Amino acid sequence: THQWRGLIEEYRDRLPVSDTTPVVTLLEGGTPLVPAQVLSERLGCEVYLKVEGANPTGSFKDRGMTMAISKAKEDGAQAVICASTGNTSASAAAYAVRAGMVSAVLVPQGKIALGKMGQALIHGAKILQVDGNFDDCLTLARELSEKYPVALVNSVNPVRIEGQKTAAFEIVDMLGDAPDIHVLPVGNAGNITAYWKGYREYTRDGLASQNPRMWGFQAAGSAPIVDGHPILKPQTIATAIRIGNPASWDYAIAARDESGGLIDKVTDRQILAAYRLLASQEGVFVEPASAASVAGLLAKAEQGLVDPGQRIVCTVTGNGLKDPDWAVAGAPQPHVVPIDAEAAARRLGLLD
Ligand code: F0G
Repeated sequence: THQWRGLIEEYRDRLPVSDTTPVVTLLEGGTPLVPAQVLSERLGCEVYLKVEGANPTGSFKDRGMTMAISKAKEDGAQAVICASTGNTSASAAAYAVRAGMVSAVLVPQGKIALGKMGQALIHGAKILQVDGNFDDCLTLARELSEKYPVALVNSVNPVRIEGQKTAAFEIVDMLGDAPDIHVLPVGNAGNITAYWKGYREYTRDGLASQNPRMWGFQAAGSAPIVDGHPILKPQTIATAIRIGNPASWDYAIAARDESGGLIDKVTDRQILAAYRLLASQEGVFVEPASAASVAGLLAKAEQGLVDPGQRIVCTVTGNGLKDPDWAVAGAPQPHVVPIDAEAAARRLGLLD
């Protein structure tokens, strides 16, 4: 049998673990790199989707969390804490269960998707809704971890980045080289930092012949890196990336500049259009924040900035089931029919 062993076992020699590190895993990683047929045709490029919603708790956060919780356990921690727009808290809660630890999560009040809240609840996290935004939650989580016996598992914890860099390894292992462009959504900017680290390590060691240009996209109402200053009241329907003062700001700038890439913003309208395109044309259901990568790629293509023939990977960071409100909103209610084949066939347009 060829069961994927989880990313710590698969990439052990490239991660800061030892034989005595207790591996806390849900067998995360090894996610599908799906060829995007419609996008490829439209752009004249070879476009792939790295489908991170296929991770155990439905987002890329599991990559960082297997590392963060394993290291916290190695250090003897009994409780972990994070600030979150939803996915980090869902992941922390699940991995804390595996480790036999208590998890505490701080979320912005009323601004996290229901599916994510449900995950944190069912995994038994201690949840506080903070009367503030994600940035306020992170400040509070940092302070609590400094003053009390609780380990911080946000991406300001460098082992989170170590775990998340493995997604870049998987892409190169699959394609045989790095892509020309790698596109991803940017919120707290940990993930763009992690991919860039992963790609650089592989080129340094001769496992890839090039680094991709890193293209990051923020939501227009929450685009501090693009606008050049923190946003005090970040807004966007993509709640996962509703962040006004990213912790890894400087690393994101470095990834952009060292790779010859770009960081730009996309409107909620563009995000929702890409969200619907991915579901209806590619068969891949992602959460709105994840669609920011594809929205950005399409916008750049419209500006003539995507030369044909390139190999492009878009990370789609989270599963659509996390936040189905936007799938249902605006869609027509399905018709009600009696238990009758002819009536059903008429409604389905099968009679003409
Ligand atoms: N996409 C999704 C689905 C996310 O949940 C996040 C971040 C991002 C993209 C952005 O990644 O922060 O590394 O730039 N979610 C965090 C959370 C903030 O709390 O779940 P980033």
